[in-house]
Amino acid sequence: MKGLILSGGHGTRLRPLTHTGPKQLIPIANKPVLFYAIEDLKNADVTDIGLILGTNMPEKVKEAVGDGSQFGVNITYINQGEPKGLAHAVAVAKDFVGEDPFIMYLGDNILKSGIKEFVDGFEKSDYQARILLQYVENPRQFGVAELDSEGHVMNLVEKPEHPKSNLALVGIYLFKPSIFDAISKIKPSWRDELEITDAIQELLNKDLKVDSHIVKGWWKDTGKPEDVLDANHLILDVLKSQNNGEVEDGTKINGRVYIGEGTIVKKNSVIRGPVIIGENCVIEAYIGPYTSIGDNSTIIGGEIESSIVVGDAVIKCNERIVDSLIGNHSRVESKENSLPKGLRFIVGENSVVYL
Ligand code: G1P
Repeated sequence: MKGLILSGGHGTRLRPLTHTGPKQLIPIANKPVLFYAIEDLKNADVTDIGLILGTNMPEKVKEAVGDGSQFGVNITYINQGEPKGLAHAVAVAKDFVGEDPFIMYLGDNILKSGIKEFVDGFEKSDYQARILLQYVENPRQFGVAELDSEGHVMNLVEKPEHPKSNLALVGIYLFKPSIFDAISKIKPSWRDELEITDAIQELLNKDLKVDSHIVKGWWKDTGKPEDVLDANHLILDVLKSQNNGEVEDGTKINGRVYIGEGTIVKKNSVIRGPVIIGENCVIEAYIGPYTSIGDNSTIIGGEIESSIVVGDAVIKCNERIVDSLIGNHSRVESKENSLPKGLRFIVGENSVVYL
């Protein structure tokens, strides 16, 4: 079985973070979300992986992933060019896939339970596709499946106005090469994309069998800032404590805390896990639960909680920062007593500031 991971899209809902890199490289607990997908495939023994690149700085994905050897997999890069939908991304991988069954994994999706159970048995079955589903409260934002009383897939609709169920398509699919013919039959949707949901519906229209599995444990599509922060919570919930850095006397550390090499946690700091701190950071502050701090960050004074600091950031203030996503090379500093008083911003395009 082969693997396809999609790493395209403009990531508009994650701007400004996606002005400097694709959304699939945004770190969750200090690891790019894309790496979780590669590890899931490897754990399901899928090691021949096509990584489909979009137009938003694809070279950064290549730089981070390389040939895949760091994960024990083989990566082949496939350029999608302009994004014309998930089915289009699959179609450009036709030569790579050849006659093999394959798994397609959207590179901004993250799952608790991995995909081993989902993949099991598909290759030898006569199903032409197997979809992964999850109950959601807001089905209109997803592809939605209707199942019969025995759990067989009856129909699928992409972002329906009147959803027939609460079962959303998780961005992880298993296909046989028959999907390529189905893709060639579909037309662009209202959002001018070739929808993979429509291609699977096309299989059903031809009376080909489509199987479904319901996700055990959590699933997150990390397309929006709040989803990225939620995913960070979920991953930090299973963080293991480890200290590779230096913690000065007089520091209070509670709960599960991971501290990277070369990091100094100065006295009078309070760290309440789960918290992950990367390498070469300087911390002299309160770091509260569910916070991930990337490499080379300096945090002096103040409090930060339930947030992601991507890395190379400087935070020097006496404020309390919560539920925040702070991009690479950002600075958040107090203005001390200088006049005029007031808040001062140097924020880039598409930044968001909540006061
Ligand atoms: C895509 C699929 C949708 C699926 C979702 C899962 O939506 O089209 O069917 O439910 O991924 O993340 P998009 O992220 O393109 O809006």
